[in-house]
Amino acid sequence: MQNKFEQYNKEVMKHFLKPKYSGKMKNPDVIGRIKNNMCGDIMEVYLKIDKKTNKIKDIKFQTMGCAAAIASSDVLCELAKGKTLQKAKKIDKKKILEKLRGLPSIKMHCSVLGEKTLKKAIEEYEKKIIS
Ligand code: FES
Repeated sequence: MQNKFEQYNKEVMKHFLKPKYSGKMKNPDVIGRIKNNMCGDIMEVYLKIDKKTNKIKDIKFQTMGCAAAIASSDVLCELAKGKTLQKAKKIDKKKILEKLRGLPSIKMHCSVLGEKTLKKAIEEYEKKIIS
């Protein structure tokens, strides 16, 4: 019988088993929440924004999903922390996959969840500060 973890590389397993950014944040400036309609997985991203510099000073996530979704979420946070909102918006599936050194082909869609959730959180924040 095939071990289902064989399909994930070491980098993916590291972020899946010991995610640095996992958990709920107290008093975030904004929360982004996305559900993947294909598999039902849900991700939430919490952001604290430095209002002067417009940089993400803290970020956390909670993902109810597969190993690839959790690893992608953690990498997304690593990529986004310290970036301006403008730069963070440019983090895409390709950058997440590069940082993870790839995912099995049937798991490629899982990296999109993080990208979408971060963008949603930034959009929500921008709406909040405009209104
Ligand atoms: S199977 Fe749903 S995000 Fe991975």
